Amino acid sequence: MQTMHTSYSFDRAADFYDQTRDLPEPVADAGIQAILALAGPAARILDVGTGTGRISVPLLLRSADLIGCDLSLKMMALLRQKFPLSRLAQADASRLPFPAGCFDALMTCHVMHLVGPWRQALSEYRRVLKPAGVYINAHTERLGESIRVQIRRFWEERVASSGPVPQRPGVRDDDELRAELAAMGAGLQKIEVVRFARLITAREVIQRIADRTQSATWYIPDEQFEASIRALWAWAGSEFADLDREYPEDAQFVLDVARF
Ligand SMILES: C[S@@+](CC[C@H](N)C(=O)[O-])C[C@H]1O[C@@H](n2cnc3c(N)ncnc32)[C@H](O)[C@@H]1O
Repeated sequence: MQTMHTSYSFDRAADFYDQTRDLPEPVADAGIQAILALAGPAARILDVGTGTGRISVPLLLRSADLIGCDLSLKMMALLRQKFPLSRLAQADASRLPFPAGCFDALMTCHVMHLVGPWRQALSEYRRVLKPAGVYINAHTERLGESIRVQIRRFWEERVASSGPVPQRPGVRDDDELRAELAAMGAGLQKIEVVRFARLITAREVIQRIADRTQSATWYIPDEQFEASIRALWAWAGSEFADLDREYPEDAQFVLDVARF
């Protein structure tokens, strides 16, 4: 499918997406329940940027009346393997192939930073929602100054200092999204659904960046990227006495809810 803009399709990520993104147990349980409760009984739900179904398959398994759409056929093929009866459409968030006012709830999870015309997409969300419908932007927020934050900060500064870096095309952060929704006249609510903790090591955080499984790493020229990873390993060797020591990382699953 030709796209007329700069959104990041995840075709290139389909082979490794499910191995590199999990759904932590508290999110799989409380997070999915919270989305269903917000959508309401017998709600018709659209999951934009549904990917491999990390969120939509658990919803479908709880009998949600859900349609998924995504730019990437390869990602959705994996969703269909997990849930053969799923209803899916290859579609761009900014040009949804649905009539006005046909969904009770529309959700996105870790998508809006990838959508070039993200303001246009929000107008589409408003169009396809019923007047009393709800837009839910689900995301995981990391809390506090974890070693992941320190490592990412060093790496991002190192890359930026070595030349121009392509920015991801969509919304910069959750605050920018909330501000735009407020400017559209939406009533906003932030629901902190569940907090959870996990243990991470410096080695695994760095290896994850080096493996280029995250979209922030995809469009940096190879030479510039490889130099940044060499610098990162060297810095980490002096910064952390033991790269395999486990540190806690706190996170929370958040639903930003908008009613237009
Ligand atoms: C990080 S994945 C998230 C997938 C899923 N929501 C999840 O939480 O696992 C982002 C997905 O958004 C899709 N995407 C990016 N830009 C899009 C657009 N303009 N319209 C529809 N889907 C888009 C990508 O192809 C990818 O499958």
